[in-house]
Amino acid sequence: MQALINRKILLGVTGGIAAYKSAELVRLLVKAGAEVRVVMTPSAQEFVQPLTYQALSGHRVYIDLFDAEAESAMDHIELARWCDLLLVAPASADFIGKMCAGYADNLLLTLCLASKRPVAVAPAMNQQMFANPATQDNLNQLAGRGVMVWGPAAGEQACGDVGPGRMLEPGQLLDNVVLQFAPGKLQGVKLLLTAGPTREAIDPVRYISNRSSGKMGYALAQAALQAGAEVTLVSGPVSLNAPTGAELVAVESAQQMYEAVMQHASQADIFIGCAAVSDYRVDQVAANKIKKSTATMSLELTLNVDILAAVSGLDNRPFCVGFAAETQDLEKYALAKLEHKNLDMIAANRVGNNDSGFETDFNQLEVFWRDGHSSIERGSKSGVAKQLIDLIAERYTGAGS
Ligand code: CTP
Repeated sequence: MQALINRKILLGVTGGIAAYKSAELVRLLVKAGAEVRVVMTPSAQEFVQPLTYQALSGHRVYIDLFDAEAESAMDHIELARWCDLLLVAPASADFIGKMCAGYADNLLLTLCLASKRPVAVAPAMNQQMFANPATQDNLNQLAGRGVMVWGPAAGEQACGDVGPGRMLEPGQLLDNVVLQFAPGKLQGVKLLLTAGPTREAIDPVRYISNRSSGKMGYALAQAALQAGAEVTLVSGPVSLNAPTGAELVAVESAQQMYEAVMQHASQADIFIGCAAVSDYRVDQVAANKIKKSTATMSLELTLNVDILAAVSGLDNRPFCVGFAAETQDLEKYALAKLEHKNLDMIAANRVGNNDSGFETDFNQLEVFWRDGHSSIERGSKSGVAKQLIDLIAERYTGAGS
């Protein structure tokens, strides 16, 4: 079956021994019906001759940024626009670092910067280089910007080491490419979600807030977009960029978040309450900066409206998913919240251990619904988000049928 017919794949090859496997990848992509153009970095040529990819793709290979002949055939901006997917395989540690920093000193890096199409990287390097915090940070940052990170696999390496760092096999990369073009599990579904903390003003310069970074909510928005959903992201103040394609509604207080959510809830098919909403707000916000005058002071707080419960209480309610951050008795509290907030699902995580959850790039979830439960093992927030979106899609489709 030619699953990739009419699909245009730009394959970037960087300098690594796994470059020889990319020749097989070109063959598999072409066999699946894709039109493939190959771009090599100068160091990739140390491993494989351009002619190999040219023969397999049926097209000339692009290497130089300043190649007048290549530019007259299809200039590099045109090439960046031409593709449906830009896949860098193998992606070396050096390339990943430069890509993360926004370098553009070779053709492939320039294309990564210039392309608005989906980008995937298949890391391939020594296991120690992969484990290095610099590489891990770079990959996390790229994933946070929506770059798909495929692999690496673990096993014996060309250098004799054993561990994670091997490029995924060409067949696995082909499967990922095919999946990328398969209709998403949430194709056309309208998904509304809240993310980040809220800020409750005390006076014009002070507020009450919490440690939520918004990373989990933003990763969920990204994963939902990749699953084909139309995403509206109602977000408290965070220092993250909204994923491309999501409609961002920026708010500060719980009351503003409530109003924004209520404006969109009736059109939503799925609602995910991922924000760490302040339970209380200051009763009387001071008009001017409060001056210190007494040894102690107290603030009168008022309970905020529960946004999630308000959405799940609507007549024509969307499929509702809540979060529960707990320090103890995870299952007991999560199930109680599922019940009393009338939810379809709840994702519970343990907080306060600095290992996952708030202020980290990692998470681990226990997900409950009325007649089932699933554990999502500790992993990057983008990986955990993808698994949670898959679970939500399964339950949502099941609930709707
Ligand atoms: N939530 C909400 N609006 C609020 C409070 C919470 O939408 N005013 C949502 C959160 O987005 C999350 C879930 O409800 O999905 C968390 O619920 P809850 O446990 O009530 O929040 P906590 O403040 O942690 O409750 P508790 O202090 O009782 O553990």
